[in-house]
Amino acid sequence: MSHVTCIEDLRRLARKRVPRMFYDYVDGGSWTESTYRANECDLQRLEFRQRVACDITHRSLDSTMAGQSVSMPVAIAPTGLTGMQYADGEILAAQAAKRAGIPFTLSTMSICSIEAVANATGHHPFWFQLYVTRDRRFSEDLIERARAARCSALMVTMDLQVFGQRHKDRKNGLSVPPRLTPKHLLDLACKPRWCLGMLGTRHRQFGNIVGHARGVDDIRSLVAWTQEQFDPTLSWADVEWIKQRWGGPLIVKGIQHPDDAHLAVESGADAVVVSNHGGRQLDGAASSITTLPEIVEAVGATTEIHFDSGIRSGQDALRALALGARGVYIGRAMLYGLGALGEAGVTRALDIIRDELDLSMAFCGRTDVQAVDRDILRPLLRPVAGTW
Ligand code: GLV
Repeated sequence: MSHVTCIEDLRRLARKRVPRMFYDYVDGGSWTESTYRANECDLQRLEFRQRVACDITHRSLDSTMAGQSVSMPVAIAPTGLTGMQYADGEILAAQAAKRAGIPFTLSTMSICSIEAVANATGHHPFWFQLYVTRDRRFSEDLIERARAARCSALMVTMDLQVFGQRHKDRKNGLSVPPRLTPKHLLDLACKPRWCLGMLGTRHRQFGNIVGHARGVDDIRSLVAWTQEQFDPTLSWADVEWIKQRWGGPLIVKGIQHPDDAHLAVESGADAVVVSNHGGRQLDGAASSITTLPEIVEAVGATTEIHFDSGIRSGQDALRALALGARGVYIGRAMLYGLGALGEAGVTRALDIIRDELDLSMAFCGRTDVQAVDRDILRPLLRPVAGTW
């Protein structure tokens, strides 16, 4: 694997190996994709300040997220359709995360079910991400299933009550499993490894939903299912209800406004995730990194702040930590690894990010990831939208 030295290498390989409709689902944002692009660009604009002649022999990336030990402050983000990037994708990614000593978060919209992932990995920390549906009994069931699978944190995603339009998905006719049109068949014929993997697994449907949600035996279209089932009346009272029902650590994801950060905390969040859903929802919104300082200022004194959207390297992770995040999530960076090389690819992605984080921290003269602060960044001469 010596030809794979950065996340971009994994992305290129995934592009060759994953069927077009599933690759495009990952590698894209909503509408003009301006927020999707800004997430990465604005992170890269934050410049480090190198320090020299500091003793950097002994360095530690050990930390905690949501009160749980992590070997570096990086967790796997919940991503839909992971098992369509590579057969059994969620199980493989959870195994790689377990080996790396970091949390794996399973999406409600995963292909492998909560039970399948838990049985295959016995993973701790294994977190579950909940979408709240109109049928509250289904949401309740998911919470109970997460408990039975010994998930050690529950994450509620707040920013997908309506779906941001992704042009590529519409044009590709994204569906699970894929419809076998001549165009898709031609594409699949060029992806033999993927096809073989899929033939060899039972996990080819939305495993948390099909056979569990009332009246649902087949949900090919993610957009249609979301429109029908996700509850647009979702409120902070629901978050309080979820917290009560769950009783354990609760992470509230999709926070971009300081007022929402306060409301999340008042509703029982133990941690909030500053996230714009990887630029997949509100196009035209500020990059996630520019909103991070406001949220840290609003609730950071009492509440743990996590960050996602745009992290493609250890340097990016360090930038978010410097601005006050306790930990970050990687979605696409993990999915590129998975699509490229399966479990080994996820492990490779995590190793790459770990090394980049460790060495960049050392260049900044720091040895303990938990003590990283804003001083490692140069103030921006021409500020991006946020204030810091
Ligand atoms: C689902 O969470 C998506 O972003 O597609």
